[in-house]
Amino acid sequence: MDLMEIDDDMYIDRHLSMEGLIPKVDFQRRKQPSRCVSVCLGLLCAVLLAGNIGQLINYEIFSHPASGDPMQSGYVQDRPQSSDNNSAAERKQLETRLTNLTTEKDQLHQSYDSVTAERDELKVSFNKVGNERDMLRASKEQRQSNYSDLQREKEELQTEFSALRANRDQLQSTYTSLKTNHDQMQLSYSSVTAERDEFKASFNNLQTEKDQLQREHSQLETNHSVLRREKGELQKKIDKIRARPCQTGWSKFDISCYFVSSVSKNWTSSRQECIEEGADLVVIDSLEEQEFLNMLMPKSQNAWIGLTDSLQEGTWMWVDGSNVTTQFWQPGQPNSYNGNQDCGENVQKTPGVGQWNDDGCFAVQNWICEK
Ligand SMILES: *[C@@H]1O[C@H](CO)[C@@H](O)[C@H](O)[C@H]1NC(C)=O
Ligand SMILES: *[C@@H]1O[C@H](CO)[C@@H](O)[C@H](O)[C@H]1NC(C)=O
Ligand SMILES: *[C@@H]1O[C@H](CO)[C@@H](O)[C@H](O)[C@H]1NC(C)=O
Ligand SMILES: *[C@@H]1O[C@H](CO)[C@@H](O)[C@H](O)[C@H]1NC(C)=O
Ligand SMILES: *[C@@H]1O[C@H](CO)[C@@H](O)[C@H](O)[C@H]1NC(C)=O
Ligand SMILES: *[C@@H]1O[C@H](CO)[C@@H](O)[C@H](O)[C@H]1NC(C)=O
Repeated sequence: MDLMEIDDDMYIDRHLSMEGLIPKVDFQRRKQPSRCVSVCLGLLCAVLLAGNIGQLINYEIFSHPASGDPMQSGYVQDRPQSSDNNSAAERKQLETRLTNLTTEKDQLHQSYDSVTAERDELKVSFNKVGNERDMLRASKEQRQSNYSDLQREKEELQTEFSALRANRDQLQSTYTSLKTNHDQMQLSYSSVTAERDEFKASFNNLQTEKDQLQREHSQLETNHSVLRREKGELQKKIDKIRARPCQTGWSKFDISCYFVSSVSKNWTSSRQECIEEGADLVVIDSLEEQEFLNMLMPKSQNAWIGLTDSLQEGTWMWVDGSNVTTQFWQPGQPNSYNGNQDCGENVQKTPGVGQWNDDGCFAVQNWICEK
C-alpha cells in the first residue's frame, strides 16, 4: 500500500491511539479541544463556587444576621428552645454540608488542577501532533512532489531507454551487416591476396622470362645483323655464281649447271661419271627445276637422277642426303617392281613437266649431272 495515499488525520488518529496518548476522539469535529475543555471546566467551577457562596451568604445573612461567627453559642442561647433545637440541627446540617462542600470544592480544585494539567498535556501533545501532522503533510507533499518527479524521471528514462534500445537494435543490425561485409571483404581480400601472390609470382616469372628474352633478343639482333651481313656476302657470291657461265656442253639454270649424257650406263656408273666431272646426279627440289630438265631432255627420254632407296627400302633420298620434298612420281610409282627397283629416273613428257619412275639400278640409260 502506498503511504502517500493515507490521509494525514487518519494516520495521526491511528498512530496516537495506538500509542495510547489520547483517547480515540474525532479531531475533525473538535478543532480546538483545549479551549473547549478549559471553558467547560471554568463554567463548572464557577457554578459550583457560586452555589456554595450563595448558600453561605444565605445562611449568614438570614440565619445569623448580627453574628460574625456562625459557630458562636451566643446565638443559639438567644433563640427559643424549639427554634434553638431546629437551628442547632440545621446548623449541624449546614456544617456538614459546608464540610462536604469544602471537601467537594477541594476535590473539584484537585480535579480542576488535574484536568488543567491534563489539558496542558493535551495542549502539548496536540501541538506535538499538529507539528507531526504538519511535518507529515510537508513530507507528504515532498513525497508527492518526489513521486511526480520520480514518475517524470521514470518516463524520461523509459523514453530514453526505448530510444537507447532502438539505437542498440540499429547498432546491432549495423554491426551485423558490417560484420558480414567485413567477412566478405576478408574473404575477397584473402582471394585477392592469393591472386596478387600468384600474379606476383607469374610477374616475376615473366620478368625473368622477359629479361631472358631481352638478352636473347639482343643476341638475336646481333646474330641477325651478322647473318644479314653474311647473307649479303652470300648473295653477292650467288649473284657472281649465277652470272658465271657453265662450261661447254653444260646448261645453266639458276645457280647450277646441268649435263644430259648422250651415252647410257647403269645408275652407279652414271653417278661415277658425274662425280668425275666435279658434279653429282641431279637433285630436283622445285617445279621450275623439273620444268627446266623436261625442256633440256630429248623427247620421251629416260635419264637417271640422283634418287635412290637402296639405303632403306621405301625411303627415297637424294644423293646429297636430303629428303624428297617436291615429288613428281608417275601415278602408281614407286612400285619397287619385282622388289628390285631402288634407283630413280626422270621420264621426259610433252606436254607436262616430266615424271619419275623407279627402276633397277643395273639398268643402262642416260643420266643427268648437276653442279
Ligand atoms: C430540644 O432538644 C432536646 C434534646 O435534644 C429535647 O429534649 C427537647 O425536647 C427538644 N425540644 C423541642 C421543643 O423539641
Ligand atoms: C455529606 O457527605 C456525606 C458523604 O460524603 C453524605 O453522606 C451526607 O449526606 C452529606 N450531607 C449533606 C448535608 O449533604
Ligand atoms: C525527496 O527528495 C529529496 C532530494 O531529492 C530528499 O532529500 C528527500 O528525502 C525526499 N523526500 C522523501 C519523502 O522521499
Ligand atoms: C647467336 O650466335 C651465336 C654464335 O653464332 C650462338 O652461339 C647463339 O646461340 C646465337 N643466339 C641465338 C639466340 O640464336
Ligand atoms: C628427312 O625426313 C625424316 C623423316 O621423314 C626426318 O627424320 C629427317 O630429319 C629428314 N632429314 C632432313 C635432312 O630433312
Ligand atoms: C654397273 O656397271 C659396272 C661396269 O660395267 C659394273 O662393274 C657394275 O657391277 C654394274 N653395277 C650394277 C649394280 O649393275
